[in-house]
Amino acid sequence: MKMIRLSKRLMLRLKSAESVVAFTGAGISAESGVPTFRGADGIWAKMRPEELASMAGFLKNPDLVWQWYAHRKRVIADVEPNAGHRALVDMERLFPHVTVITQNIDNLHRRAGSSIVHELHGNIERNYCMKCGTTYANEAVLAAAGVPLCDACGGTIRPDVVWFGEMLPEEEWDRSLRAAQSADLFFSIGTSSVVYPAASLPLTAKMQGAYLVEINPEPTPLTGRADEFLQGPAGDILPMICTCAEQERRAMT
Ligand code: APR
Repeated sequence: MKMIRLSKRLMLRLKSAESVVAFTGAGISAESGVPTFRGADGIWAKMRPEELASMAGFLKNPDLVWQWYAHRKRVIADVEPNAGHRALVDMERLFPHVTVITQNIDNLHRRAGSSIVHELHGNIERNYCMKCGTTYANEAVLAAAGVPLCDACGGTIRPDVVWFGEMLPEEEWDRSLRAAQSADLFFSIGTSSVVYPAASLPLTAKMQGAYLVEINPEPTPLTGRADEFLQGPAGDILPMICTCAEQERRAMT
């Protein structure tokens, strides 16, 4: 593991921070075995998002979309949270307020034990009827042959995820915005920072005075605007940040 040096400014923030936000993307789950979207071996390098992750694609070919989501549900059911997810849980022991804002639909932050998780793009473990809104767990929809239909009204069931061109869930967005606006320390972790409106949150936080730290093995469009860029895998860097924060905050007591 490559040693990463944290700046004096970050050490000072680790010592004094009251409110910490971790904004995550597919990269934090990569070490669990969940494929990311962009990049050479990303999902969108092989498949067309407009066909698989849009209402138009679903209406045109619901079978194809359900086959794909059934595959993703099975892949995600077989993986476990990794050291990166667990470090964010550990941060709750070190800082008074820790909020996770995620673009991921894999439910791994909740499974790791994070207390406050705002899911901007939905959750792959939830499904609902497009006609009457009845909700379904994965067991029910994965047992169906073909496109699952609602027992109550016969309507078509869809995964509770946000597709391209759709609005983000209002409450999750409002809570995420408030958390970003009151953060002392904002970590942007494992995201390519290209999908809006989610990608606007790091700079919203910085404009409100948060110290903005990006964690990614690769630079992104956000890198030049971040206060600090920690280049490497989240599963290595986040536990190291927890160790440093513990030392800095222990020195305070
Ligand atoms: N640790 C940290 N970052 C990593 C790691 C790792 N181990 N491995 C890869 N990354 C980085 C990549 O360098 C890349 O910048 O994670 C990022 C993943 O980017 P994307 O695949 O674009 O995923 P994300 O930013 O979450 O996508 C945003 O787009 O497709 C939609 O709705 C989907 O929520 C998703 C949104």
